[in-house]
Amino acid sequence: LRSDKVGIAGAGRVAQALGRALYQRGVDVAYVASRHRNRAESAAEFIGPATTAVEYSELPSRSGRLLIAVSDSAIESVARVLADGGARDGIALHTCGAKGTEALRALSDCGVACGTLHPLQTVREGQGSASALTGISFAVSGDGKAVAWAEEIARLLEGHVLRIRPECQVLYHTAAVMASNYITTLMDVAQELLVSAGLDPADAVLALAPLVRTSVENAVTLGTTAALTGPIARGDSDTVASHLNALSNRDQRVSHLYSVAGLNALAIAERRGLDQAKVAAVANVLKKN
Ligand SMILES: NC(=O)c1ccc[n+]([C@@H]2O[C@H](COP(=O)([O-])OP(=O)(O)OC[C@H]3O[C@@H](n4cnc5c(N)ncnc54)[C@H](OP(=O)(O)O)[C@@H]3O)[C@@H](O)[C@H]2O)c1
Repeated sequence: LRSDKVGIAGAGRVAQALGRALYQRGVDVAYVASRHRNRAESAAEFIGPATTAVEYSELPSRSGRLLIAVSDSAIESVARVLADGGARDGIALHTCGAKGTEALRALSDCGVACGTLHPLQTVREGQGSASALTGISFAVSGDGKAVAWAEEIARLLEGHVLRIRPECQVLYHTAAVMASNYITTLMDVAQELLVSAGLDPADAVLALAPLVRTSVENAVTLGTTAALTGPIARGDSDTVASHLNALSNRDQRVSHLYSVAGLNALAIAERRGLDQAKVAAVANVLKKN
């Protein structure tokens, strides 16, 4: 049945990982499309032995269930190509966290039930990518039929469903980006400082790894308020001032990051009951920078 077959628009990281994860759970992921035949073919090979590479325009006549996992800026144009390719019913979900169902307007105007299914996970190429989609949260929105399919996918992947109100979609995505990309950024800056302190770059990452992992684990198990340690949590303004002094001859982006992140750490310390005089002293040092 066409309506049971899943077709994936896009042959990148999410298309491949989600396609493979669903295929492994018995979903009929029958087609995958890309602008480039060779990329669609290698994605099909990665997803599973019964997956075939096709053109975007061929998907609607072959699949009643469309997963659109193309770059954010291409979602509207790919939806238009699918609509022009004859999409008239069925379901379509896109995997972008920053956009809502309005990005699929071309398809909803043709009678397709439209929605979104955003995996709250960072997805890379390669073997581990499909298993990284197991047990995660998925933000889901859209028409009744689309939401039902998105929830079915989340259930198959042993995931949790997050229903985000449309007006909060961008806020949701901002949180996702900060939790993922900013942790990477903080590690990058810490590595840069350790290299300046004389460590080899690879040794610096290895040295930081247990600290970062334990900090994340503590934030998850204890909550961020209880997990925060260090000079700002203690209200040690002298140490904070010495850090800023050590950063003073470097690019200002680093000292600015230290100060802005520090003010946010100070909000945690204050929430935990740090003495008001210490809060004021640390704030004074951080805001001077
Ligand atoms: N990677 C992540 O960590 C992650 C996590 C959650 C959600 N997402 C979302 O999932 C979606 C896909 O992300 P991704 O990381 O898988 O991207 P990706 O690896 O860069 O792959 C993007 C795909 O989009 C296609 N594409 C790009 N521009 C196009 C255009 N103008 N017309 C038609 N196709 C076009 C590319 O096709 P060609 O093969 O033809 O070049 C490629 O197959 C995005 O909405 C992203 O925000 C990503």
